[in-house]
Amino acid sequence: MKLWGGRFKDSESKLMEDFNSSLGFDKKLYYEDITGSIAHVKMLTKCNILTEDECNIIIEGLKDILSDIEEGLLKLEGDYEDIHSFMEINLIKKVGEVGKKLHTARSRNDQIAVDMRLYSKKKANEVIEALHELLVIVKNLGEKNPHIMPGYTHLQRAQVVTFKHHMMAYYSMLLRDKKRVVNALDIMDESPLGCCALAGTTYNTDREFTAKELGFKKPVDNFMDGVSDRDYLLELLSCFSIIMMHLSRLSEEIILWSSKEFSFIQISDDFSTGSSIMPQKKNPDAAELIRGKSGRVYGDLMGLLTTMKGIPLAYNKDMQEDKEPFFDGVDTVLKCLKVMSGMLKGIKVKKDNMYKAVKKGFLNATEAADYLVNKGMAFRDAHGVIGAIVIYCEENDKAIEDLTTDELKKFCTLFEEDIYEFIDYSNTLNRGIKKELL
Ligand code: ARG
Repeated sequence: MKLWGGRFKDSESKLMEDFNSSLGFDKKLYYEDITGSIAHVKMLTKCNILTEDECNIIIEGLKDILSDIEEGLLKLEGDYEDIHSFMEINLIKKVGEVGKKLHTARSRNDQIAVDMRLYSKKKANEVIEALHELLVIVKNLGEKNPHIMPGYTHLQRAQVVTFKHHMMAYYSMLLRDKKRVVNALDIMDESPLGCCALAGTTYNTDREFTAKELGFKKPVDNFMDGVSDRDYLLELLSCFSIIMMHLSRLSEEIILWSSKEFSFIQISDDFSTGSSIMPQKKNPDAAELIRGKSGRVYGDLMGLLTTMKGIPLAYNKDMQEDKEPFFDGVDTVLKCLKVMSGMLKGIKVKKDNMYKAVKKGFLNATEAADYLVNKGMAFRDAHGVIGAIVIYCEENDKAIEDLTTDELKKFCTLFEEDIYEFIDYSNTLNRGIKKELL
């Protein structure tokens, strides 16, 4: 069933019909399509293009269709080209001839553009909420665990940090993620409805009215851009890709920390899985899946960027390909944010194991060199002295603080009793990452 048979002599091939049809995926936009149509009809009435009676009949019809869909009485399926044809044909079935007036002064080009903006605004707000929930959980987990742990560079133990400071690094990343989505929402907050196919309409319509009615800041400035702009989807997908990259890095840490080799944390049973063959195993599948799904969201972004790159102005059917990647990207990021929140809630931090790893890692070696610098030695020479001490400690299975002052003096006579306080892990931390950030 089509909206445009008039200028055709032959019927469309079945293959072409299937190829062209988008109802299978744009059915997700049913609510936004109805909302956009109601605003459009109100505007047509205000501008004396439709009568009050026609307006009431069409709006009642659209509202009935909405409740039929939501109650399962009307299935979003069948031989329709897209969600817009589905709505118009069903409206005409419901209210008769007057339904044919719905599409006055509108094209499917501005209709789909406004539907997608409304839908992506709604979903981006859900992402903001999910980010907010995760931010609270990350902060709580950090605050409950202000314990000393090794900090790494090159995945080698480097200097002492706290578990809290480590978690608060993710807090900072996720906070930036939230700001990025808020900013993308601000940039996209303009209504394309009223641009029609690409060059407006001969009717005297009111784009300010529909923009306001649909909750946009203003109508778009340029008609051709209005119907063919998909930047907001790209920008959101790029925000989602950065979120997924952050979630993937955190997942990687969770996978490492929960291994026997690190044993810094334990993931609760409700977010772990077992092995079908190895009875002892508890696998961090939730974290691995999040890490894996980051590739999928990057793919959604790359796919849409590639689709858009060679399209001349204004609307071209290529743009129908914006929907599946966006739907997939937003659904994936929302799921991953929720799973990450659930998993972090149940994480147990193994304070003693982290402390043991600190002791074994010479994590106060840099500070021991600083000690000698404070006593007048050049840093490069101090670096050499402490390097030799580390070799000695490794050979004797000791930490720097386990050596006596006599042993230390054999390497450098500048060592005194005050070295122990200087290289104490808590003291080095408080001097390094300042107390208020720990
Ligand atoms: N299904 C189409 C899309 O998603 C709707 C717009 C169709 N416009 C047109 N001129 N054929 O892009």
